[in-house]
Amino acid sequence: MNVAVFASGSGSNFQALLDAAAEGTLSASIKLLVCDKPGAYAVKRAAKAGISAFIFNAKEYSSKEEYEQEILQELQKHDVQFIALAGYMRLVGTVLLSAFEGRMVNIHPSLLPYFPGKDAVGQALAARVQETGVTIHYVDSGMDTGPVIEKAAVPVQEGDTRETLQARIQKTEHELYPRVLQTLLHNQLAGGITK
Ligand code: GAR
Repeated sequence: MNVAVFASGSGSNFQALLDAAAEGTLSASIKLLVCDKPGAYAVKRAAKAGISAFIFNAKEYSSKEEYEQEILQELQKHDVQFIALAGYMRLVGTVLLSAFEGRMVNIHPSLLPYFPGKDAVGQALAARVQETGVTIHYVDSGMDTGPVIEKAAVPVQEGDTRETLQARIQKTEHELYPRVLQTLLHNQLAGGITK
């Protein structure tokens, strides 16, 4: 199945999906990176992997609808059937939500509904919780609010900094996302999509 990954930053989750697809543990063809930050390291990862990238600057458009229409055209051009958000730090609007209903997921570095939005790792440290984690969920119009697919807990350790906790969380993300996506894509195929 043809997949697009959306990212705004380093793209380490994008890389984990690329690696899993290359190894064959993820039966997906990653066709496109969509990125709203021209300087993001994710863009370099796409180039290295020979994956097309659609890079846009939201400030150059008059509305979310306008840039999402362009994204949609790119997705259609690459025959994309499923979207994985991986550190895409924007709310998704109605254009993409209606075109990809039930076929768009996100990964977030906390046990939702706790610590949605930006800096979930810093929020967990500030709240002094003993455990945080990772959530994969369907995307809706809210900020990290869609129906949960899977969660994995990650312990907060004595003396953790944002960097050490983030590294532990990302290790879990990189294992969890390809595995959950594999199941979802398998289910999509079983549901009748044949590409
Ligand atoms: C990941 O930890 C992801 O869960 C988070 O951004 C990071 C991106 O890292 N997403 C969110 O916070 C979404 N609200 P990456 O660019 O290295 O994959």
